Amino acid sequence: MLYSSLVFLALCARPAVAVAVAALPTVKLDSATITGTNGIFSSKFLGIPFAKPPVGDLRFRLPQPIPAYTTNFAASSFGLSCPQQAISLPIVSGLAAEAANLIVNSIFGTILPDSEDCAYRFHEVGKCLECLYRSYVECGKAGECYTDIQASGRSGAPRQAIQCPAYRGTGFGFLAGKEVKAAGIGNLGLQDRNWGQSAGAISTSLHMVANNGNAEGLFRAAFMQSGSPIPVGDITNGQKYYDAIVSQTGCSGSADTLSCLRKVSYATLKAAINKTEAQLKSYVQNTFLPGVTAAEVDKLATLYPDSVTEGSPFDTGYLNVLSPQFKRIASFQGDGVFQAPRRFFLQERSGKQNTWAFLSKRLKFTPVLGSFHASDILNVYGGGGMADYLIRFATNLNPNSNFGLQWPQYTTSSPKLLTFMDGYETITDDTYRKDAMAYLINVTFDHPL
Ligand SMILES: *[C@@H]1O[C@H](CO)[C@@H](O)[C@H](O)[C@H]1NC(C)=O
Ligand SMILES: *[C@@H]1O[C@H](CO)[C@@H](O)[C@H](O)[C@H]1NC(C)=O
Repeated sequence: MLYSSLVFLALCARPAVAVAVAALPTVKLDSATITGTNGIFSSKFLGIPFAKPPVGDLRFRLPQPIPAYTTNFAASSFGLSCPQQAISLPIVSGLAAEAANLIVNSIFGTILPDSEDCAYRFHEVGKCLECLYRSYVECGKAGECYTDIQASGRSGAPRQAIQCPAYRGTGFGFLAGKEVKAAGIGNLGLQDRNWGQSAGAISTSLHMVANNGNAEGLFRAAFMQSGSPIPVGDITNGQKYYDAIVSQTGCSGSADTLSCLRKVSYATLKAAINKTEAQLKSYVQNTFLPGVTAAEVDKLATLYPDSVTEGSPFDTGYLNVLSPQFKRIASFQGDGVFQAPRRFFLQERSGKQNTWAFLSKRLKFTPVLGSFHASDILNVYGGGGMADYLIRFATNLNPNSNFGLQWPQYTTSSPKLLTFMDGYETITDDTYRKDAMAYLINVTFDHPL
């Protein structure tokens, strides 16, 4: 499945950090001295609390500020991850063992221990931007992060700081329902802040468009990989998941179900939220576009034809035909979730701000999957050339240097993509499947999730 990615910005304020040579680095926060650890080219401050733990009565509430830091402490280990949905990697049955191994071992790391008490962040200060926070749709890890020491040596960019806040994910951070709407506690995961890849990129793009684009000084640019604003309807569209959680936790009889949910045990709530995963999956699978009309389905079926040579992984001919409709569904889903929203977002933003976009076709020959979702992570955080572009972008708000391939800005009249092929880079046009994606954008807007 070929997923492209897009680039904008996302840098956080730089903390004032004093880095002592060879000694442990320290930083002053309010009246406290925080002691970090040394990376090879950087200083790291791990597990710094940034909000009151969202536990007890603070469950399902906006993040609450903590008092000033007054006690010295060692910031030497990561905080716990926020609660995770039981992980389900995108491994289809029939997938070649080597492809499964690649995904499990090189892309997705180990799952960290999780806790509801997870309002911690991670700071890394180094010669350059060394990592960006990565998150999955279900995850909000306390500082899982890729570092790219090679890139920092190459780029010679000035000191940069990166901060990676853990955020509440799953039902803990994105509960739906009319009760949630009335209490004003939707999108808690966004209130906690997050950046990065996949769900992190979707969240970043949402921060860009929230409040009519007024970022309130939180960031000056954004960098996104594989994620754009996806069309979502009113928060009450998720009522059935709220009701299911209320029922599973024994809160159905309560006059104030939200208050009841704040009192159930973590284990009970976690198990109930985990069950909604199966429900959501069957919903997306059986009714990917709820309310879509027969005529719309017919038209989509002609735009995504029953032809294995036109399916995803694209341009792989008769290869990768896992099942008769596999490549067709893969192209439709990949475009619906990633490609079409990306193109729409770029077209909306270009001309209003400086915009660059890229497409990753690396690892294209991974059996069955092609250039699968998250395969571009290695190019940024695994020592690949994308890191140079990112570091320059973070430093200068322009990914280009005077040397090498020039990455043109994306405009509607000239929609260009920096395209990463295996072993080289080139510039391509963002015009593939033009009619299909234009129609898909309209249909997903008419029938949001
Ligand atoms: C979560 O739900 C899945 C089914 O969607 C189930 O297989 C798994 O055992 C559950 N895990 C936990 C920790 O409840
Ligand atoms: C999408 O919707 C817009 C606005 O209604 C319309 O102008 C355009 O023709 C539609 N495009 C397609 C491909 O249906």
